[in-house]
Amino acid sequence: MIRSFIQNPNYEATLDRIGKIFAAIGIVALSAATIDQIGPEGKIVIAIVLVSIWVTFCLEFLLRLFARSKDGPRYPLSIAGACDAMAVAFPAIGFTAGLDWRDVALLCGIWAVKFARGTNALTLLQRVLVNESRHLIGVMWIFIMVLFGAALLAHVLERETLPEAFGSVPVALWWAVTTLTTTGYGDAVPTSFGGRLLSGVVMTAGIGVFALWAGILAAGFAKEVRRNEFLRNWELVARVPLFAKLGAKELADIVGVLRARRSSAGSIICREGDPGEQMYFIVEGEALVSTVQPIRLGPGEHFGELALITGKPRTATVIATTAVSLLVLDISDYRVLVAHSPEMSSAINSEANRRLAALGASSTTDQNR
Ligand code: CMP
Repeated sequence: MIRSFIQNPNYEATLDRIGKIFAAIGIVALSAATIDQIGPEGKIVIAIVLVSIWVTFCLEFLLRLFARSKDGPRYPLSIAGACDAMAVAFPAIGFTAGLDWRDVALLCGIWAVKFARGTNALTLLQRVLVNESRHLIGVMWIFIMVLFGAALLAHVLERETLPEAFGSVPVALWWAVTTLTTTGYGDAVPTSFGGRLLSGVVMTAGIGVFALWAGILAAGFAKEVRRNEFLRNWELVARVPLFAKLGAKELADIVGVLRARRSSAGSIICREGDPGEQMYFIVEGEALVSTVQPIRLGPGEHFGELALITGKPRTATVIATTAVSLLVLDISDYRVLVAHSPEMSSAINSEANRRLAALGASSTTDQNR
C-alpha cells in the first residue's frame, strides 16, 4: 500500500495536505491543553491526539526520507526537511528533557511550520524582502528617526508631570512605540497640551510610515507574482508554434498579456451560442470541438478565434477531453497582436477561413438532409 502510494506522482502534495490538516488539529489541541477548566478525561484525549499526530509526523518524515522526495537526496538538508525534522524533534526533546506534558504540548506549536509546506509563500516573501530591502530599510530609518524624536520630545514635555512614564528617553520610548504603531495601550498618556499635540503628530506619522511599508510590500509582491507568471507563460508560449512567427518584442508583449489556465477533463471551455471574448492556445492536452463532425485539437493548436474575428457568438462548444493546459488571450490583446504581427494575423485568419468554410459546408449539408 505504501509503495503504491509513493508511486503516485502527487503523493507529496497529498502528504502536504494531510500535514496541514493534522497540524491544524494539533494546534487546536495544544491550545485546549492550556485551558485549566478542561478535566482529566479531556486532557487524556488531548494527549492522545497530540501523540497520534506526532507519530504521524514521524512516519511522514521517514517516508519522505526514504521515498523519492522531490527535494531528492538533499531532503534532510532542505528547508522543508528541516521543518519536518523540527516538527518531530521539538516535542521529542521536550519529552526526554522531562518537561511537564503541557509544556511538551506547547512545543508542538512548531507544527505551524507545516502550513508553509507545498506553497511558495515563504520563498515569495523571501524574494520580496530581498528585492525591496533597500526601500524597506529606508523607511525603517524614518521609523527610527520619528521614534527617537518622539521619545525625546515626550520626555522633555512630560518628565515633570509623569516621571514614571517619561522620566528618561529609554522609558519614553515605550510610549513612542505604542503611539507610533497606533497601538495605544493607554498605560502612558501625556497630559500637557504639548504632549497631546505631539501624540497626534506621532500617531499620524505612524499611519504614514506603515502605509509606506505596506505599499512597498504590496508593490513588491505584485511585481514578483507578475514576474513568475511571465516566466511560466514564456515557457508555455515556446510550445505553441504559432508564436514562433513573432519577433522578440512582440513575443515579450504577448507573454505579458497571456493568462495560463488549466481545464480538467470533461469541462466545457466555451459553449456554442455564447458571446466570445477570448481565444485559447493549447499547450498540453486535448480538446474536442463539437461540430457535426467533431474535431480534436491538440498541443500547439488554437480555438475560439472565430467569435473574435466575426464578432458573432461561438460557433461550437469546445470540451476538454483530457486535462488541458491553455493560454488565454483576451479580445483587446488579440487586436493589438494582429495589428502588430501581420504574419500571425494571416496565419490565424487563413485557418479561421478554413474553419468557417467547413462550418458553412456542414450547415449546408444539414439543411440538405
Ligand atoms: P469560436 O466560434 O469562437 O468558438 C468555437 C471554436 O471552435 C471556434 O471559434 C473555432 O476556433 C473552433 N472551431 C469551429 N469549427 C472548427 C473546425 N471546423 N475546425 C477546428 N476548429 C473549429
